[in-house]
Amino acid sequence: MYCVKKITDSLLWTGADDRRIVCFEGVYPVPDGMSYNSYLMNDEKTVLFDTADKAVTEQFLENVRYGLNGRALDYIIVHHVEPDHTASLAAVKRIYPDAKIVCTAKAAEMLARFYPEAATSVMTVAENDTLETGSHTLRFVTAPMVHWPEVMVTYDETDKILFSADAFGSFGALNGTLFSDEVCFKRDFLPEGRRYYCNIVGKYGLQVGMLLKKVSALEIKMICPLHGHVWREKIDKLLEKYSLWSSYTPEDKSVMIAYASVYGNTEKAAEVVAEILRSKGADVKLYDVSVKTNDVIVAEAFRCSHLIFAAPTYNGGVFVRMEEALREIAAHGLKNRVCAFIQNGSWAAVSAKKMQEILSECKDMTFIENVLTLKSALADDQYPEAEAFADAVLATM
Ligand SMILES: Cc1cc2nc3c(=O)[nH]c(=O)nc-3n(C[C@H](O)[C@H](O)[C@H](O)COP(=O)(O)O)c2cc1C
Ligand SMILES: [Fe+2]
Ligand SMILES: [Fe+2]
Repeated sequence: MYCVKKITDSLLWTGADDRRIVCFEGVYPVPDGMSYNSYLMNDEKTVLFDTADKAVTEQFLENVRYGLNGRALDYIIVHHVEPDHTASLAAVKRIYPDAKIVCTAKAAEMLARFYPEAATSVMTVAENDTLETGSHTLRFVTAPMVHWPEVMVTYDETDKILFSADAFGSFGALNGTLFSDEVCFKRDFLPEGRRYYCNIVGKYGLQVGMLLKKVSALEIKMICPLHGHVWREKIDKLLEKYSLWSSYTPEDKSVMIAYASVYGNTEKAAEVVAEILRSKGADVKLYDVSVKTNDVIVAEAFRCSHLIFAAPTYNGGVFVRMEEALREIAAHGLKNRVCAFIQNGSWAAVSAKKMQEILSECKDMTFIENVLTLKSALADDQYPEAEAFADAVLATM
């Protein structure tokens, strides 16, 4: 049975949800599932905008068959070769062997490697090329490294719709909805949309910024991404968030305290500092890096202006889970944050130095000199030290 959604008289959502997936791309937990979006345009020519992940091939094919209603498929536009959008391409080509694949030259090379049998009748397009499909003019806009190097987006000049590839997407299944205005921006989009952005394209802020610049010259009535909801309202709010995230500008004046603790003493010190910061008016959130996955820590580090990392010394280094979390933050290219450190060690505490070393890879970071050091546990007479540490953080807010 097909399961499609009408977007306009000529455009249909032909994607599908996967709620069985545990980890997207083998790394990111997706407790609310994942949607793989595909769109079908019925003009004088028929155009399929991307295919879908192999987990949903059957549903996706039924949707396309229904949408075409017996017509032939003329074009398959491949915006992005990553298999979450192309794994069903071979199946589509088996049913519609005459469909022309439209993609960038780089994408064509990749498709030939991934799917040597399916990558036939390929028509490569470059920046600003157009395709006339009858009453619609489709303009292609390259977006290199807005996840992968071959990526492009398509602007439907007729209906002012941007098919945005992975940009403006989100984790989470659609659950029968399609438009972002059917759910709450703050509650249902922001946490997962941010976690998706930071982890999937966070490293490529510069390239996302370039795409935003190109997009700002277009009149956009709708954004159709490859994951998550379609945007027809509050597009300005979405673009505002993307502008902050891509420029590594903190979203909130807030403190993230990410801590690790084997026996609980570093955790107690983190709690004491949180309490002092709170009582002096700061917004604070605490995360145990042994409990929260790195993608959550990365997303919160993008959100918050101030980051406190607290960890025990571990075999002359920093506790393993904290080391991983910090390396993930550095790998995602975070910039422009104020960072402070709480270290612990029973005989030779060095974890603050080690943590700062990892984050020194990041640009435009401010490291607060005042380090709070615990020798196994925060002693009662160290309260003034904890307060001085918190004050040093507050002084930069
Ligand atoms: C595997 C392991 C290795 C450790 N290596 C060091 C070390 O190299 N230097 C040090 O001063 N303490 C080391 N410690 C001790 C912890 O850093 C110390 O006990 C700390 O107080 C633990 O804080 P917690 O109560 O928050 O877990 C090590 C502990 C463990 C379990
Ligand atoms: Fe992707
Ligand atoms: Fe994707």
